[in-house]
Amino acid sequence: MSEQLLRYEQLASELAGMVESGVLSRGDRLPSVRRLSRERRLSVSTVLQALHQLEDRGLVEARPQSGYFVRQAKTSHAEPQLRSTPEAPMPVDISQRLVRVLQAGTRPGVAPLAAALPASELLPVAALNRLYAGVVRRHPELLSGGSHINMDEPALVRQLVRRSLAWGGPVAAEEFIITNSCTESLGLCLRAVTKPGDTVAVESPAYYLMLQLLETLGLKALEIPTDPRTGMSLDALELATRQGRVAACLLVSNGSNPLGCVMPDERKRLFATLTAARGVAVIEDDIYGDLHLGNERPWPIKAYDKTGNVLLCSSFSKSLSPSLRIGFVAAGRYRSAVALHKTISSGGTNPITQHVLAEYLESGAYDRHLRTLRRAYERQVEAMRLAVSRYFPAATRIAQPQGGYVLWVELPEAFDTTLLYEQAIAENLAYVPGELFSPSGMYRNCLRLNCGNPHTPEIEDAVRRLGAIFSRPQIK
Ligand SMILES: Cc1ncc(COP(=O)(O)O)c(C=O)c1O
Repeated sequence: MSEQLLRYEQLASELAGMVESGVLSRGDRLPSVRRLSRERRLSVSTVLQALHQLEDRGLVEARPQSGYFVRQAKTSHAEPQLRSTPEAPMPVDISQRLVRVLQAGTRPGVAPLAAALPASELLPVAALNRLYAGVVRRHPELLSGGSHINMDEPALVRQLVRRSLAWGGPVAAEEFIITNSCTESLGLCLRAVTKPGDTVAVESPAYYLMLQLLETLGLKALEIPTDPRTGMSLDALELATRQGRVAACLLVSNGSNPLGCVMPDERKRLFATLTAARGVAVIEDDIYGDLHLGNERPWPIKAYDKTGNVLLCSSFSKSLSPSLRIGFVAAGRYRSAVALHKTISSGGTNPITQHVLAEYLESGAYDRHLRTLRRAYERQVEAMRLAVSRYFPAATRIAQPQGGYVLWVELPEAFDTTLLYEQAIAENLAYVPGELFSPSGMYRNCLRLNCGNPHTPEIEDAVRRLGAIFSRPQIK
């Protein structure tokens, strides 16, 4: 074992040395696994271990069917800046406009730059289909279950507990509730910790579906300034929660949507302490936690929760398939309230899908898949940043996401992305206008682009044509 360890580490360090000294430069292809194995008299698995280590250090990347390449340096570009937000909470009214944008964005022939959906070729669809067939064959009893109420499959909960070790865990099995999606998880948590009329603190800009949930539940949103690199401002939250009028805080601390920021660990720790002391429940959406673009999986705020005040929500929609419709909540001390809402909203979660997911996670395939998927998302986000910097107006600011696969773009002030959306969609180009990420209608000069698809010449052309729309003279 120790010799094996030494051999792969030695190969990794030799290859790293070649990159660092410039013998291998950015974009160069590394010798193939088979060639390295033959020439260095190492087993294929030892070579792969070395390459995985280099991948984790961000030095090389695997490209499907092509081999390993030295990674390109990230482009640098002016980034959006922290903005101040209205001080008063306000009702939300974005749903109707949003539905129109999302529906138009998925029409056949429209470039897929609006909804944050991954390309199906990046997902292990064939493996999941095989698992479905196997589970149905091996467990015919699943469809004859007497009760569907709160049927959380112990095998899946066990896998989630195991995964929680990487969230600074472990989270106790008793905390978990399996749901039909992250959206369902967020809705259940909001119902459990608020009542109509309450105020919920949100990031600014915030994920529009969170705003829609507040809208439909009759909750008010308080926008908290959010740094495009480091996330929600703790100072602003501290100020906003002094009077005891904020019931909950709803945020994506790892790879926020749309900024892609990751809150630093120390701020997460202080955040957990402050919200617990102020009696503000934290609903944390960690859907992009496994899709970090840096080397380490960031911990959620939940890792620093000592009082059960954090409800962690997630799903496998972004990493395995949006069609699985399976998610979960680790609900802390609110577990029984969340479970009650789950029972009265949808009873339970499809047992076949729970088994499929449990088997997929148990096989170890998920971590291998994530490694490839993260690199693909990273490449796609970077290619989109490059394309935007090539075709959009010169003073455009572009976010540098640390997680997820959406890109936030800030045009100069004179632009109105809501007005321009009509021109874009008429030309079969989609995006999500910035104002839909803010209950007060901020960010009218911003937009969000989906980078969930491989950056094909068609996508490049769509960004070029969007850039041409944004280069026409502006009449406000
Ligand atoms: C931050 C965030 N949460 C939740 C969701 C929705 O997840 P699900 O499909 O599991 O409801 C999305 C999808 O875009 C998202 O970006």
